Amino acid sequence: MLGLQSRVDSKTASEALNLFKTKFPDYANSELYYGVAPGRIEILGNHTDYNEGFILSAAIDKCTVLIGSKTTDRNVTLHSESMNASITFSLDDDTKYSVESGSSWANYPKGVIRELKPATGFVGVFKSNIPVGGGVSSSAAIELATAMLLRSLYPELEQDTMKLILACKKAENDFVGMGCGVLDQYTSGMGRVGHLVSLDCRDIFKHCYIPLCPEVKFVIANSLAPHQLVDGKYNILRAQCFDAAALLGVPFLRDVSLDRFDREKSVLPEGVRNTASHIVNENDRVLRGVKMLAEGDVDGFGALMSLSHQSSTRDFGNSCPELDTLVACATGLQGCLGSRLMGGGFGGCTISLVRSEEGEIFCSALLQAYHDHTGISTTAFVVSAGDGATGGLL
Ligand code: GLA
Repeated sequence: MLGLQSRVDSKTASEALNLFKTKFPDYANSELYYGVAPGRIEILGNHTDYNEGFILSAAIDKCTVLIGSKTTDRNVTLHSESMNASITFSLDDDTKYSVESGSSWANYPKGVIRELKPATGFVGVFKSNIPVGGGVSSSAAIELATAMLLRSLYPELEQDTMKLILACKKAENDFVGMGCGVLDQYTSGMGRVGHLVSLDCRDIFKHCYIPLCPEVKFVIANSLAPHQLVDGKYNILRAQCFDAAALLGVPFLRDVSLDRFDREKSVLPEGVRNTASHIVNENDRVLRGVKMLAEGDVDGFGALMSLSHQSSTRDFGNSCPELDTLVACATGLQGCLGSRLMGGGFGGCTISLVRSEEGEIFCSALLQAYHDHTGISTTAFVVSAGDGATGGLL
């Protein structure tokens, strides 16, 4: 298990292996492979990815592991420990699992398998320590872990990480039906320990890494707001962004500078204008934020994070009362430099930038303040930037 143990702690590795042996005793002595992929944090650049704009993100040190072995038929059987569920399907079956069936999690691996087309069936178990539904993209981690396992099991398949990232994104767009950009899959695939990933989504082959300054840490807190219809709302916002670009006569909102937006925004109907304003300003914030980090200006950077949240609430409309309360609680606490919602929005997590020495105290104070305001008991933790997805022989 040396391969997997180089990526996850030995307890997680041995629990994943034991789970595999319990679920698939007939394969316990076969050659076993693994895929492992982290969740991600979105630091700045909200909904900018599908507008061909800029993002700043990091992989986290929490992962999904998939251990698997080939079979001789064309059936795939996967067990998810966190869902406490197993599914079996044929490689020739294109049917999507419905949300009502309770197996919709299986659309993520199934979509990737459909993209990559392995020659035989296989069996596998998922084990994860990424909080599900918390906005740290546990779904992209499932996709990338699947791709990494397939890459290891079948050397004749695509081996290039970037192409696998794009295959995972395509699976989510075409099979799952979520019109996401590349942020989640890219960050899960390309993260680097101790670093942020800075990406121009127009040119995804040229990213750069920014070392995380030891003076500050990121804290994730879960609003526990029920985010129903998230994908539907996400796709509506996405369509509005494309409408705005068309009305401004550009391919994507990325092509509109702040100055130009100010000059030409009156051509946009009000709702679409606000949506577009968020994207144009977010792109500008990412570019300014990257410069600030290079200069060690963590206060300035934190302020940009808070501005991003205000823009989500006021212009983009992807916040909700729970997220606003969580952000307000965070920004009122000692050591907090900035706070914002993260990812699609409408629920899920916030991310706060906190002075390192305050990290743990900040988490407990935030939980208390959020409980005082809402009655909700939730979780908050300091995250570290981890490495991107990989796989190999167990
Ligand atoms: C979700 C999507 C990403 C990105 C973010 C918002 O996480 O999957 O592609 O658009 O929302 O920035």
